[in-house]
Amino acid sequence: MTKQEILLAQKEFLFPSVFHYFAEPLVVSHAKDQYVWDADGNQYLDFFGGIVTVSVGHCNEAVNAKVHQQIDKLEHVSTVFANEPQVELAKKLAGLTPDGALTKSFFTNSGTEANEAAILVARCYTGSSEIVALRHSYHGRSSGAMGLTGQAAWKLGPPQAGITHAVNAYCYRCPFGLEYPSCEVRCASDLEQVIRTTTSGRIAGMIAEPIQGIGGFITPPKEYFGIVADIVHRYGGIFIADEVQTAWGRTGGKWFGIEHWGVTPDVITSAKGLGNGFPIGVTIARPEVADALKGATISTFGGNPVATTAARAVLDYIEDQNMLQNTEETGAYLREGLLGLKDKHPLIGDVRGMGLLQALELVEDRTTKVPAVAATLRVMEAARENRIMVGKGGMYGNVLRFSPPMNIGRSDVDEFIKRLDMAFTEAAN
Ligand SMILES: Cc1ncc(COP(=O)(O)O)c(C=O)c1O
Repeated sequence: MTKQEILLAQKEFLFPSVFHYFAEPLVVSHAKDQYVWDADGNQYLDFFGGIVTVSVGHCNEAVNAKVHQQIDKLEHVSTVFANEPQVELAKKLAGLTPDGALTKSFFTNSGTEANEAAILVARCYTGSSEIVALRHSYHGRSSGAMGLTGQAAWKLGPPQAGITHAVNAYCYRCPFGLEYPSCEVRCASDLEQVIRTTTSGRIAGMIAEPIQGIGGFITPPKEYFGIVADIVHRYGGIFIADEVQTAWGRTGGKWFGIEHWGVTPDVITSAKGLGNGFPIGVTIARPEVADALKGATISTFGGNPVATTAARAVLDYIEDQNMLQNTEETGAYLREGLLGLKDKHPLIGDVRGMGLLQALELVEDRTTKVPAVAATLRVMEAARENRIMVGKGGMYGNVLRFSPPMNIGRSDVDEFIKRLDMAFTEAAN
């Protein structure tokens, strides 16, 4: 098919809600490692990784060799039959969770399903149905997950009962107009008032992203999750860390984002980078929480032998290549480069994130912090012209998000910063 034929077919045969970046959608032809090629043969340096998903590089040979072997051996049996790749992965995950405390996994196909399973298990375990989520969050596209989500743009369909939204730790735009640290992390302690005033006081749990992804890589102060998890437990709930974007070393030096703050959640959900592009979702829970999900449940494709083989190979690769160290060091180097751009381009109001999960929030004016929505679109287009792929996010649509494959090096960062610098200069003119 030609590029035009692909775009026409997309228009005619896909739901129009399958939206694209850019005035003229970018048609991708193929990819390898940190590079992606479009249908016209242009090569891009990929600093978005298919929405924080390509963790160990596009078409990683070590992973794909194992996938090729597995696909010819056993492709599918469903969860009603046991198979080795599924339990191998579950065993491996149990050894990676904080304190080794979360030892039981339930496999699905996406982050949305992982979160659905987490909410269900929280409700079964506690006997309560009330859930606290955060403003500016994103948790997926099922009815339940859209109910949890805290951004109007991603909430289609009717509201969901039993969900309440606490303020998030958005220091750049503090919901209380305060400054850290003199604020004493009021956004965290406010959770108690939220529970006491908007719920029955007996909650099933709270779900939160350690760093809010689609919200624009909003990164809380170090005290935040300790305070919040403590309040949740005091009101009878369990704490669910939605690590769909932040797991597998992405945030630098740790397997899971939540570990940076010394909090051991009761449930972790993840997807995206675990499969490096293979569809897989997982809900990992403390055994007593997992055991509360009585009765049978099926995910036809959940724990699929090919997807679980891919995930196991991704984890092995991350370990073999010492990628947790790379995300920490190369992430710090990327951060330096972004801070350098902030010194140069007044459009950049905030630089935030951790490891190889970094973002820029763009504002029209650094004092008023009015979101620079049109300029963000211009920078996106200019980034494309400079052959770099970046993501967009934030509730106001003014955040550029960067999440390259976790095995990139400093030379990739140098090249990226050079091209992003050009994109900002061109977008300003
Ligand atoms: C934090 C978070 N949770 C859940 C999801 C939903 O995952 P999926 O799109 O795989 O259903 C996403 C997707 O971007 C996400 O970022």
